[in-house]
Amino acid sequence: MGMRNVVLIGFMGSGKSSVGRKLAGELGLRFVDTDSLIEERTHERIEEIFRDQGEEVFRALEAQTVAEVSGQTGQVIACGGGAVLSPRNVEALKRKGFLVYLKASIPVIYERVKESMERPLLNVSEPKAEIERLLALRERIYERVSDLIVDTTDRSIEEIVDEIKRRLKEMKWESE
Ligand code: S3P
Repeated sequence: MGMRNVVLIGFMGSGKSSVGRKLAGELGLRFVDTDSLIEERTHERIEEIFRDQGEEVFRALEAQTVAEVSGQTGQVIACGGGAVLSPRNVEALKRKGFLVYLKASIPVIYERVKESMERPLLNVSEPKAEIERLLALRERIYERVSDLIVDTTDRSIEEIVDEIKRRLKEMKWESE
């Protein structure tokens, strides 16, 4: 059996891409980011897709991308924050993947995303309230679908990567 995937899930700004890239490097796996793949394929930025075609079109592209990467192994996959809201995406990702929820607090999320114009869902007049609202809707889903929850608050990327590696090793994940 080929090596399975490590799938990073969690809210925008929880560090999925930075943690994922480093983790992949250290585990000798390929790093893939669903949002980047969508941008490469469509030659459009995520925020342009939202703006010009709407969230529904974005979600369809995301589902297609998730289905595709889920069929391959040996990857660390960073998912867009909304990817696991679709049960079908969760099912696909879980088939070969170990799902790690990078949990971050509201102030940390806010600090990380506030300067960014790349997050259409938070490009609103009250981004902090919107983070609270979306997180309240999503938190239990992130917790329920994940195989492992890692608290990222006040921890460096390196510390988070080390914890994930340690937990994978404890579970003898590499030998599977
Ligand atoms: C989204 C998160 C974004 C991106 C899109 C929608 C969401 O990804 O997929 O803007 O619904 O949470 P990041 O979590 O990488 O910011």
